[in-house]
Amino acid sequence: MEKVRVGVVGMGRGGSLAKWMVERIPEYEVVAACDKSRVRVEARASSIGAPDLKLYTDHKKMLAEEKLDAVMVETDPCSIAEVACDALYSGRHVICDVPLSYRLRDCWDIVVAVERTGLKFQMGEQLRYAKFVHEWQQMNMAGRLGKILYVEGQYHHDLHGGWVYWDPVQGRYYNMEAGKGIPGLLKSDRMPMHTLAYNPHELSPILKILQDRVKTVSAMGTRPESYTYQIFDSPDLEVAIMRTEGDTIIRIVNAFGCPVGGRGHWYSLMGTKGQVEMKRAGWDQGKAWFKDENMTDYAAFEDPEWTPRELVKEALGTGHGNLDFYPMYRFARAILEDKPTDMDVYLAAEASAPGIVAGISVEHEGLPFAVPDFRPGPRRKAGEYPATYKAKSLYGDIEREGVTHNPREE
Ligand SMILES: NC(=O)c1ccc[n+]([C@@H]2O[C@H](COP(=O)([O-])OP(=O)(O)OC[C@H]3O[C@@H](n4cnc5c(N)ncnc54)[C@H](O)[C@@H]3O)[C@@H](O)[C@H]2O)c1
Repeated sequence: MEKVRVGVVGMGRGGSLAKWMVERIPEYEVVAACDKSRVRVEARASSIGAPDLKLYTDHKKMLAEEKLDAVMVETDPCSIAEVACDALYSGRHVICDVPLSYRLRDCWDIVVAVERTGLKFQMGEQLRYAKFVHEWQQMNMAGRLGKILYVEGQYHHDLHGGWVYWDPVQGRYYNMEAGKGIPGLLKSDRMPMHTLAYNPHELSPILKILQDRVKTVSAMGTRPESYTYQIFDSPDLEVAIMRTEGDTIIRIVNAFGCPVGGRGHWYSLMGTKGQVEMKRAGWDQGKAWFKDENMTDYAAFEDPEWTPRELVKEALGTGHGNLDFYPMYRFARAILEDKPTDMDVYLAAEASAPGIVAGISVEHEGLPFAVPDFRPGPRRKAGEYPATYKAKSLYGDIEREGVTHNPREE
């Protein structure tokens, strides 16, 4: 195989990623584009720039008619599992975006489908390709920080500008002002009921640095109605405390429903022998302290922010600090060289499920819940479903499958 023949499903962000595939990654041949919304797929087709691009409004028809090696799934999170599983069971490798879903059941469907088909799967979480993630992982592995006891991460993003109203005919979103009074709009399903359910951008880099997985989660949120925006029916801010298998405590704060200053994504690590944290504002600097270097205070260092670990010219101008290029490129190389993908289905589920479980905990005022272990072992053989896919509380007889916010299904 010289090129990966790919079909892209979901023509929002998927339209931009498909265009970059055509322009910058010769390993791909973009064969087909699909969106449930005819208006949307037709509008994006010419900007993708692929010769002879076939357009579809039904992903099953695309899978049946096109000779594809792989499918890129860029639908809303609650639709990823259906499309990804159909693609896998039809023999195609799959790359999808974040998160896997807002429901645990969907995570299991994808894990089991990958195990049953043996095909390649990659989550396109791009922050894990940032330079600081590599450097902090190396620092951790070299033992410079000692045993990492505590990690903080935050994702602050005022979503009032988007994701609020959804036009099912045009297949596009409106922000609060633009959507006001337009007939036929629904509340969008991009916005999860719990902000913590949209979490891989925080957890994927942290878990990569730690080489660990989350075991238990407890979380709280402000009241379900936003204090800021009337239309939001999600808490303005949610905080999760997580314990990993390797006994590190992680605190994650997600705020999507209120205006915020400073950095959107921010991380810090605290170990028995040192501490390191990103800068919090444009004028700030990264801070580090190492016990073995007899330091009495933090030292400032130049925070690389979102610079990729290795910036190649093809990545320049792709989104999120030039990072969007890397998951797509690495996925193609994994297929062509028949190598493991960078973020396989287990890493994808481990970055997605704790946020889903956190949403469940929020609804029980912080009751701790166990996060399912997605890897096969004595309790579950590869390719089999677990006895229960639901999250179990550590205290009390409560089992839940997860948060969702999909008004089109309700
Ligand atoms: N990695 C990142 O930084 C990042 C940034 C933004 C969004 N995302 C994720 O990327 C994905 C896409 O985001 P978006 O902003 O483009 O969302 P979007 O809702 O604007 O677009 C999704 C599109 O998928 C289509 N769709 C849904 N189900 C379908 C199906 N079964 N068949 C065909 N089309 C279908 C919808 O009609 C819609 O046009 C989401 O999962 C989101 O969470 C990731």
